[in-house]
Amino acid sequence: MLTSKKIQKMKYDKKKIKAITAYDYSTAKFADEEGIDIILVGDSVGQVVMGYDSTTKVTMDEMKVFSRAVLNGAKNPLVVVDMPYLSYHTGIFEATKNAGEFMKMGAGAVKIEGANDYILDLTKHLTNSGIPVMAHLGFTPQYINTIGGNFVQGKNLDNTLKILEDAKKMQSMGAFSIVLEMMPDVCAKYITQNLDIPTIGIGAGKYTDGQILVINDIIGKFDGFSPKFARKYYDAKTAIKESIRKYMDDIDNGSFPSDNESFTLDEDEYERFESYTQNK
Ligand code: KIV
Repeated sequence: MLTSKKIQKMKYDKKKIKAITAYDYSTAKFADEEGIDIILVGDSVGQVVMGYDSTTKVTMDEMKVFSRAVLNGAKNPLVVVDMPYLSYHTGIFEATKNAGEFMKMGAGAVKIEGANDYILDLTKHLTNSGIPVMAHLGFTPQYINTIGGNFVQGKNLDNTLKILEDAKKMQSMGAFSIVLEMMPDVCAKYITQNLDIPTIGIGAGKYTDGQILVINDIIGKFDGFSPKFARKYYDAKTAIKESIRKYMDDIDNGSFPSDNESFTLDEDEYERFESYTQNK
């Protein structure tokens, strides 16, 4: 089973860290069977599963349900749970209690966004309480209302140096890895080279220590906004729609269900049944 420590070691062994989001049992099981290193129960679930317009609407109760499903399916990968918006901002006590709920369910770490003074204190406290913390810098979706939109971060030297400074602070508070979201590749490269802990990029180019994408984007199951970095490997939307359409057609044309798809009586019982129903 992969742990936060083993993930950290991958940076030194120069092994690329491969991460994906998942929100349900079977996707987590399949990702595990394919050898994924990290499964993130991302609060992106809000948009791609719940149909919300931002991650800020996701609740603790919702994250618990999706986390339980993923934890039932994933045995080997490190399962990281995203702390939902406002589940960790109102105080260290409540944040630790909420993070602890995911850990008690079997998660291996939690992810929190940002690096202000409070988040730094919290990271130290969680780590000291035995709760590994994955940081998240660059574009941080939970701050969408203050950032003002899906904007690429670190677009100049000063911004990049600020992200690096934040990343170093999170590292010194005990974070075991850092997601870098939506920034130019050379900035992510510089940040990655100047940290001891691994960086996991999403829309941050090829020089990070690992990569993460949202599962619904890569299988083509989400037809809302699709960021340019989300490579699409399959067209699940078309596959789902076609299957449903064919199923409905088969009901209409009488080919579903076939004899093979129906249960039958044993011969003797069938005869008894026929003679009873015909003599009625
Ligand atoms: O919620 C999520 O899916 C994430 C990834 C984009 C890193 O935070």
